[in-house]
Amino acid sequence: DPFRLMIRDSVGSTNDDLRELAEHGTTDGMILLAREQTNGRGRRGASWFSATGEALAFSILVRPSEPRHLWPRLALAAGLAVAEAIDSQGIAAQIKWPNDVQISGKKVAGILVESGPDFAIVGIGLNVNARSFPPEVADIATSLALAGDREIPMAEVFAAIIHRFSVRRSQIGDDFPEMISDVRTRCSLTGKKVRLRCGDLPKTGVITGIGDNGELLLQNERGEESILQADEIRLIA
Ligand code: BTN
Repeated sequence: DPFRLMIRDSVGSTNDDLRELAEHGTTDGMILLAREQTNGRGRRGASWFSATGEALAFSILVRPSEPRHLWPRLALAAGLAVAEAIDSQGIAAQIKWPNDVQISGKKVAGILVESGPDFAIVGIGLNVNARSFPPEVADIATSLALAGDREIPMAEVFAAIIHRFSVRRSQIGDDFPEMISDVRTRCSLTGKKVRLRCGDLPKTGVITGIGDNGELLLQNERGEESILQADEIRLIA
């Protein structure tokens, strides 16, 4: 389906505003982009900071034809699309499963997928030209401008993300193997020792890769385990 773009000067959260539109019947492919986002939301109730004029903050409305249990794959599709768009600027990007995008171990983009009865909202925040960050995240965040050491054309990156997302979102069904092999190539956790939480349950082990359904594979003395959802994946020494 074709994409359509709405641009707003200032919103609280593009995910919230686009959900409102979706609930009123807006069709597949609508994109809402905000020049300024004042109440950006991240995963697990965190807030998401976007430097006004220097970051991309937008949401895409998807009304998938695939069954609902496959929708979580949209998050992988979006992460991969962002990583590919970054590559097209000559900067190497990795995916920290499930969908943080990193450059040299620092987070450059976050993705928040939320679903409604018959739609999903894919929210993407990408640090493009910001050169400094709030103190809480200064050590763990980066931007394309910092990584590339030059001003980055924001509209060009945006167009590339949308283009790559249209390719990747079509692979959440039968063509998922094509997507997952590219996710594997970019997965920054493979071979790393991690600590993570599944709900209240802490787990440690070595990440051996990503399974055929997009799950994270964790190996420890109890064997290999598939992780479908995790909070707070931390690398340990
Ligand atoms: C995360 O890393 O925790 C996800 C961050 C997602 C941020 C984007 S910015 C556009 C969209 N609107 C929001 O309120 N959040 C997402």
